[in-house]
Amino acid sequence: MTARLIKGTEIRDEILKELKAEVDKIKQEHGVVPGLVTILVGENPASVSYVTSKIKTAKDLGYKEVQDNQPEDISEGDLLSLIDKYNKDDSIHGILVQLPLPKHIDEKKVLNAVDPDKDVDGFHPVNVGRLMIGGSEVKFLPCTPAGIQELIVRSGVEIEGAEVVVVGRSNIVGKPIANILLQKAPGANATVTVAHTRTKDLAYHCKRADILIVAAGVPGLVKPEWIKPGACVIDVGVNRVGEKISEKTGKKIAILKGDVDFDEAKEIAGSITPVPGGVGPMTITMLMRNTLNSLKYRLGIA
Ligand code: GUN
Repeated sequence: MTARLIKGTEIRDEILKELKAEVDKIKQEHGVVPGLVTILVGENPASVSYVTSKIKTAKDLGYKEVQDNQPEDISEGDLLSLIDKYNKDDSIHGILVQLPLPKHIDEKKVLNAVDPDKDVDGFHPVNVGRLMIGGSEVKFLPCTPAGIQELIVRSGVEIEGAEVVVVGRSNIVGKPIANILLQKAPGANATVTVAHTRTKDLAYHCKRADILIVAAGVPGLVKPEWIKPGACVIDVGVNRVGEKISEKTGKKIAILKGDVDFDEAKEIAGSITPVPGGVGPMTITMLMRNTLNSLKYRLGIA
């Protein structure tokens, strides 16, 4: 059997189209557009590339976008003042501080300074708490886990009642996706197990999974024989395992490998995300959705 490919790029395009239609309608009816600011400290190449993509996507959707780049040596106090400025700016509905931050800046202090009602990353403790409580409390889901839920729902895999096994317990992916899928809500209602580095028998848990979500950051961690035949496999791993020359651009690019042995796993799974082109494209898409939702909350139309 060969698994159905869950194509993040196609699902991304579908959602962006829906968002654009909504943005145009709100602009027409209310005369406002969503506003997103990205704050980038320093020039880490991966961060520059992420922020550039976020700003381009926002622009394509017709958002007001502000790319606020700051020098590597900005003081913590100045960064906190900058965040405060955007907290008070009514034309800005989403504030994203690109991580990682330089070592002299306390990341926790910075993330906590973002107004929870503009926290489109969903990293503020208030939004983490809202997700734990669930229901109408939830405002902003963190982007990668929200994207994973959309991939599963839109590819027609039944989540309700399913055995979901999450491998990895990070604050950015593992913990929030577990919380999202166990909510008493459509697109959730799963029975969720979270496995991690101290789990005694990882293979045993993976083999039980109707939906297996792997976010461990270890290339090829999940072996094909650990996959239940017909399962839905979501591979969140993006591991750089080497470099190659791009056929398209002639430039050096990273060779990426997921946490699952894709070539063998696809012969056993029912559906599977590729790396790249699976979960990756969904993160920015969900950032755009959160920013639009932030405006909708403000207008009282969410
Ligand atoms: N750095 C890598 N991924 C992310 C993300 O999703 N949000 C932020 N703020 N920084 C990141």
